[in-house]
Amino acid sequence: MKQALTYDDVLLVPQYSDIKSRKEVNIAAELNDKRVLQLPVISSPMDTVTESEMAYTMLQYGGLGVIHRYNTVLEQAGLVNEVFNSAMSELGMSTQEINIAAAVGVSGDYVQRATALWENGANIICVDVAHGHHLLVKDALYKLRMELGDELHIMPGNIATLEGFNDLADWGANSVRCNVGGGSICSTRIQTGHGIPGLQTIFDCAESDRDAKIIADGGIRNSGDIVKALAAGADFVMLGSMLAGTDASPGFIIEDTNDLKYKLYRGMASKEAQIEWRGEYSSNEGISTRIPYKGKVDLVLNEIKNGIASGLSYSGARNINQLWDKARFVKQTNAGLGESKTHILGK
Ligand code: XMP
Repeated sequence: MKQALTYDDVLLVPQYSDIKSRKEVNIAAELNDKRVLQLPVISSPMDTVTESEMAYTMLQYGGLGVIHRYNTVLEQAGLVNEVFNSAMSELGMSTQEINIAAAVGVSGDYVQRATALWENGANIICVDVAHGHHLLVKDALYKLRMELGDELHIMPGNIATLEGFNDLADWGANSVRCNVGGGSICSTRIQTGHGIPGLQTIFDCAESDRDAKIIADGGIRNSGDIVKALAAGADFVMLGSMLAGTDASPGFIIEDTNDLKYKLYRGMASKEAQIEWRGEYSSNEGISTRIPYKGKVDLVLNEIKNGIASGLSYSGARNINQLWDKARFVKQTNAGLGESKTHILGK
């Protein structure tokens, strides 16, 4: 049986570096030959993570936000439009510089939804299903490509295997969300017994000879995990919990009796989310929880940006391409993992 590793199982080996400052490190990653993300970070299409405010902030930081699909076509297209028009007027960005992604499913009104999103300024359509290596995704990818043409960037997922990655790329994916059941609020593996430890999926998909970009999605808890995902071969990372609970994530601040502040964060396959959006639930594959309020998302994004640049410099890499060449992983034991965490005596 094959062994599968994830983030806490490995560390990157520090290497000789001639990088004198983090400013010498470029963390940009190409979406395609015309478009680049200056920050290789994508916010997740979840109703407690990405609506217009998060998408706009991600755009400002050179990253990307994927506006969730748990709303009407009109509402979602309106959110896309808001980001597009404010990016044009407030940031003075051109159409070529504006990257906005929005999610659709694979049934019902998804073609009409994707068309409305595209017409309102989304240049990336995320085909957002739990089990992406699926016939319905294949049909959807062909249909969307036929309806919206070659300029559209299609981002389906999620898959867990190299075979899944290659099939989605062959069906027309420009990027693929990789990792099944690894997210912080996921219970898919508990509910169904299926999945692969998240970083292993990235190692496996990095073996692909297809052009599609790899998005490491789920289970990423800090900038160290982001650097590990990139070093393993990811082009981008997708974040839910790291960006949830900030001022730019949707939802109200909840205050408890001790004046502590929280925000809701929930899996889109959780019972709570399904009941709210569909009025009923089927398989319950996520949880709903509240997480401490983190304040401004700018603080989180700046920490991420600096953490990635610092991480690259520890591998002696000036950019992500160099990181792919240079990165060396070691497997760590449980004692090593203990040592890797802060562990002052008595704490
Ligand atoms: P993190 O770890 O960043 O994970 O919080 C976010 C990712 O989790 C996925 N997601 C789900 N997976 N049940 C699942 O099994 C769910 O209810 C669910 N909701 C989100 C998704 O890939 C997201 O980007």
